[in-house]
Amino acid sequence: MPVTAARVENVLFEDQQPVPSDSRAELVSGLQKPQKQVNPKYFYDARGSELFEQITRLDEYYPTRTEIAILQRHAAEMADFCGPDCVLIEPGSGSSEKVRLLLDSVRPAAYVPLDISADFLYESAVKLGREFPWLQIHAICADFASQWHAHTELPAGRRVIFYPGSTIGNMEPSVARDFLANLRQWIGADGGVLIGVDLQKQEHLLNAAYNDASGVTADFNLNILNSINRIAGADFDADHFSHRAIYNRQLQRVEMHLVSDTSQTVNVNGGAIKFSKGETLHTENSYKYSLDDFHALITAAGYSLQKSWLDDKRLFSVHFLAVSA
Ligand code: SAH
Ligand code: AVI
Repeated sequence: MPVTAARVENVLFEDQQPVPSDSRAELVSGLQKPQKQVNPKYFYDARGSELFEQITRLDEYYPTRTEIAILQRHAAEMADFCGPDCVLIEPGSGSSEKVRLLLDSVRPAAYVPLDISADFLYESAVKLGREFPWLQIHAICADFASQWHAHTELPAGRRVIFYPGSTIGNMEPSVARDFLANLRQWIGADGGVLIGVDLQKQEHLLNAAYNDASGVTADFNLNILNSINRIAGADFDADHFSHRAIYNRQLQRVEMHLVSDTSQTVNVNGGAIKFSKGETLHTENSYKYSLDDFHALITAAGYSLQKSWLDDKRLFSVHFLAVSA
């Protein structure tokens, strides 16, 4: 794997260059399934990362502001759980906005933002480095589901994963369990996880959050077609698809789809993919957990729950997990 690295003052930027030829095969195989699907990591090209930032500021999108309020209120107690001089690792760090709320309390030996969106990660890390000149930042561009940790050397210190945003909710629960279980191998027996999880709630709040009136979530959803076009040499026309987000009560998840407005054929990597009118490309799941279900998930992954923090309306939750003895 080609890895390039660059240093700007207190920021080391390492690009593991998630390999485009692998991505092409993954995209094509998802499009050939009976229910066409795409891994939501492909949302996050430079424009997708910008659109996600806009989503976080929408009135309807309650998760970001609710989690921020929880972090602000309990930062000191969360820092106690992290312990002194930890190495704070954030898979899917995006703009690294939330970690700012913890840094003065946690005072980590190093912060490791990890994201698939290379340019956005680089800019966010350099900006953070200027605001916190005392902080050592080791930014890694990689797929957090890959063996990225085998290709890097992290600074010494207790490893604490900071995984906010309910990004865990974008994985199938069995995949989330395996992901958390795998983390244990390299955070070690004394490692910890500070994780944000979105909770089950009234359906109208969920439907509004993923169908905002200004259409930003629709643009975010449709933008995945541009990523597919670029990576897999496809010719999707975003004007011929529409955004759909619905809460699937049985499976306790918000599903995002792109609905084909007409019967059409799309060329992908030299092959033809047919869509009938109304057929969908499934682009994302966003699972909403009950506290009991989340507890069962982390227990199965080999963790014990140290503490949970919730907002007053019980919309969102943040948890500190320790590796089970
Ligand atoms: N942690 C931030 C951002 C959450 S958005 C917050 O809480 O606000 C999800 C982030 O995860 C995006 O920045 C996206 O680029 C990143 N991401 C999604 N799938 C990924 C993957 N497989 N590997 C690495 N990063 C990923
Ligand atoms: C990143 N992730 C947790 C967001 C979510 O809510 O599932 C992505 C998103 N999709 C639509 N809006 C936001």
